[in-house]
Amino acid sequence: RVDNILKDKQVVITAGGTQEALDPVRYLTNRSSGKMGYALAEAAAERGAQVILIATVKRPVPYGVKLIKVSDTQSMLGAVESYLPGASVFIAAAAVSDFRPVQLAKNKIKKMPGQTSWQLALTLNPDILATVGQAKKPQQVVVGFAAETQNLADNAQKKLASKGADMIVANDVSDQAAGFNSNDNAVILFIKNQSPQTVALADKLVIARKIIDQTMALLASKVLE
Ligand code: PMT
Repeated sequence: RVDNILKDKQVVITAGGTQEALDPVRYLTNRSSGKMGYALAEAAAERGAQVILIATVKRPVPYGVKLIKVSDTQSMLGAVESYLPGASVFIAAAAVSDFRPVQLAKNKIKKMPGQTSWQLALTLNPDILATVGQAKKPQQVVVGFAAETQNLADNAQKKLASKGADMIVANDVSDQAAGFNSNDNAVILFIKNQSPQTVALADKLVIARKIIDQTMALLASKVLE
């Protein structure tokens, strides 16, 4: 039955903004609070799933959820890969930095006398969602997000294909009332060969329940005849 398809299944979720260290006291990050990922963890646990939440931020951990704390993209990828073999569902809600500093300085970087600017060299990070999407097993469901400030639908459709995801949850992060760090979100769900579904502005837990319901339907279509 679709209603209890997540019972005792493992669901791996990423949450929060990655922190890419420059030196022992500085890092590059973004405005993600982790609220969306934690809400998804709660919604999946409500459905009886064993949830592994791989997060860069600490918030109250919902009942039935195991928290794995990480900091940067590479440690997030390592944790995801270690839990993935047993997982039925992977959801990438984390705001992952596309780039990280080329060098991690051992000591605090000092301002030189007379220095008026600083060029920071960055290198490409691994794409966690694409790595998982491309290696997924036939019965695993992979859900990604698209955080956009323009061309939301176009970019979400592109990510659906390029990341090997079964569903992309698109949010317009230029809207102050939704997206990064707010308690509410408004999303559009993109699934291959289906028309997009709009989920109107609501508390992130309400949005998360809708995403989990849709994820359960996708899992059912792969697992059940
Ligand atoms: O944490 P909150 O404050 O509650 O805010 C929620 C949110 C806005 C962060 C969330 O709803 C959201 O949109 N998360 C995805 C943010 C993001 O990184 O989007 P993106 O469009 O840049 O990336 C697309 C997808 O690829 C995402 O699922 C992302 O997790 C993943 N990705 C991106 C780059 C990378 N190197 N590895 C990845 O896995």
